[in-house]
Amino acid sequence: MGYFRLGGKDRMDRVKLQGLSAVGEEPLRICKAVIPVAGMGTRFLPITKSVPKEMLPLLDRPVIQEVVEETVRSGIRDIVLVTGMGKSSIEDYFDISPHLESFLAKSNRKKLLERVRDISRFAEIASVRQKEPMGLGHAILCARNFVGNEPFGVLLGDDIIDSDVPCLSQLIHVFEKVGRTVIALQEVPPEEVDRYGIIEGEMVEPGLYRVSRLVEKPSPGEAPSNLAVIGRYILPPAVFGIIDSLDPGAGGEIQLTDALDRLAADEGVFGLVFDGLRHDTGNLLGFISANIHYALKDPDLGPRLRSYIEKRLEQDDDL
Ligand code: G1P
Repeated sequence: MGYFRLGGKDRMDRVKLQGLSAVGEEPLRICKAVIPVAGMGTRFLPITKSVPKEMLPLLDRPVIQEVVEETVRSGIRDIVLVTGMGKSSIEDYFDISPHLESFLAKSNRKKLLERVRDISRFAEIASVRQKEPMGLGHAILCARNFVGNEPFGVLLGDDIIDSDVPCLSQLIHVFEKVGRTVIALQEVPPEEVDRYGIIEGEMVEPGLYRVSRLVEKPSPGEAPSNLAVIGRYILPPAVFGIIDSLDPGAGGEIQLTDALDRLAADEGVFGLVFDGLRHDTGNLLGFISANIHYALKDPDLGPRLRSYIEKRLEQDDDL
C-alpha cells in the first residue's frame, strides 16, 4: 500500500521500480513539515544553559534558519516546530518584531529592514510543545494533530546540508515515484556507526535502497552496514500509530528509528544516498566546520577568511 491519491494519469511511466503498482494513482503532495527542536543541547553546554542550540550562528543567521529555508525551497511552507522548555527564542525569531522594524524604518536602513521582515514572512510556522524529553519518536508524535492524515517531511536541525537541489526535495522526488517512506542516507566511517540509525538494505537503483531493517546507534560489531540515516525523512501518517505503540528503545527513549524498522516490515521504506555536503552542527567540530564552509563560500567574507587561515597556518608553530 503506497500513499497515492486515486485518479492521476501517466503515473505508471514514472514508477519504474519493480513490485510497485501505482496505475491510475497520483502520489499525495507533501505540504507539511515537522522540525523537532526540543533537544537539550547537552553537547553544547554551557552555552545551551540559556541559548537553544538551534539559535547558534551559521555566520549571521541561526542554524535553524538554514533548515527552515531548505523546507521552503522544497516547496513546503506549513511547518511545525516541536519545541521544549527554554526554546521560546526560536518562536520569537520567526515572529514579527514591531519594535526593531520601526527602528530600522525610522533610521532608513531598508535592506536590513527587508531582511528582518522576510524572516517572519517566508513560511507559516506553528509550534507544539514536547513536555518531557522522551526522544525523537515522541517529539514527532507531538505533531500528530498538526499533520493529520497525510504524508509529511521531517528535518532534524543538527544536519545542515549544502546541495544544489535541497535534500528534502530529493526525497520528495523519490516519494513521488515509490509512494512510501523515504529517508536520507550517507555512508559513515565504521567507527562512527554508533552515533546514527543504521540500515540494512538492498540497492534497487544507483543510490536508492530498499530498506529491510534499521538499528538505532548499534555498536560497530552489530551494525548491519555503514549506511547511516541523516536527518531528513518523508513519513506516512501511519507512523504516528506505530510510535504510539513503541516501548522505549536505545538510550531509554522512544526512537523514530524503531518506528521506521516497523514500517520497513509493514509497507516498505526506501533510503536515498543524497547529493550534497552535510555538516553535523550538533557537535563542536561540525559546527565550526559548517561556519568555515559557508564563510569560504561567501563572496565578501571568503577571500579574507582564506587569507587569514593561510597566514595562521604558516604561523602554525605559535599555535
Ligand atoms: C538522530 C536519529 C538517528 C539519526 C541521526 C541523524 O540521532 O535518532 O537515527 O541517524 O539523528 O543525525 P541524534 O543525532 O538525535 O542522536
